[in-house]
Amino acid sequence: MDTLTLRRPDDWHLHLRDGDALRAVVAASARQFARAIVMPNLKPPVTTLADALAYRARILAALAAARDAGELDERAAAFQPLMTLYLTDNTRPAELEAAARSGMVQGVKLYPAGATTNSDAGVTDIRKVDAALETMQRVGLPLLVHGEATDPAIDVFDREHVFIDQVMEPLRRRFPALRIVFEHITTREAAHYVRDAADGIGATITAHHLLYNRNAIFTGGLRPHWYCLPVLKREPHRLALLEAATSGNPRFFLGTDSAPHAQRLKEHAAACAGCYTAPHALELYAAAFELAGALDRLEGFASLHGPRFYGLPVNADTVTLRRAAWTIPEQLPFPGDAIVPLAAGESLQWKLAPAA
Ligand code: NCD
Ligand code: ZN
Repeated sequence: MDTLTLRRPDDWHLHLRDGDALRAVVAASARQFARAIVMPNLKPPVTTLADALAYRARILAALAAARDAGELDERAAAFQPLMTLYLTDNTRPAELEAAARSGMVQGVKLYPAGATTNSDAGVTDIRKVDAALETMQRVGLPLLVHGEATDPAIDVFDREHVFIDQVMEPLRRRFPALRIVFEHITTREAAHYVRDAADGIGATITAHHLLYNRNAIFTGGLRPHWYCLPVLKREPHRLALLEAATSGNPRFFLGTDSAPHAQRLKEHAAACAGCYTAPHALELYAAAFELAGALDRLEGFASLHGPRFYGLPVNADTVTLRRAAWTIPEQLPFPGDAIVPLAAGESLQWKLAPAA
């Protein structure tokens, strides 16, 4: 098989940043995906409907600029950002009601305070957001969860499965009708939890967690471009994620968690967390699915399961991947610096064909 045609996919977890960085990265996602759930962890975070609408307008302006500069054709420039709010201890129920009514906000992100990049404004104690969660449950706004415990005493590699016991499971008992996406799952425990849970839960899985285990961070030296949060785990976890992603179970869908940082901030004594996968996302996922002998399951995971969870139509058109070896660039342009994509300099065996 040398070509693979699927319905145009969407990215259900993406960091687009803002300003010049947004302008530098948005075209990469627009070439690959029709829509994306856009994370709200800007500085300051996107906490109100007004913030989300203003951010959306800046994304659309960046897309138009990319089109005018000849970087995107009309179809790719029609990329739709699906907006999210950043949940804080002080999020007001009325704000969430307004967000749901607007139809412009698809989810609300729970960052436990201190869990990851720009999470300082996050929730300090899940019991403080009961009124917000009750409102979201009532109006049908999904909760998108960064599922890591934040107690510094807990081993970094255990934070996801501890979070399931300490936060996720009690939360689901208290709000059984709240729709939840367990974002960027990285462990067997999370994959099995989502698989076996009652209805109303889904999970995104990144390409890098399907392709790599934690050895990648340490191979031939400390390699910051493989450092993200939640951090890569042991091989049995990678295998469990691959099994979940390729199982055909509609609870699992594509979310790149592409998280661009300037090269100098990645190659730094305190390297920022985040892997930049937007430019070659689909090709990375195809590599993972091919390794599992499950290319026939890629369309469900990439293009069908996400819209089903979010209650949105699937995309009408298709994309085609062709078997053709190519090399991931060492660097790409980024304001005042460069950006190093994940697996820079390595080769991939599938390439997204340019629009017809
Ligand atoms: C993300 C970022 O840089 O914004 N980093 C990451 O490692 N994934 C934050 C996040 O999603 O945790
Ligand atoms: Zn993320």
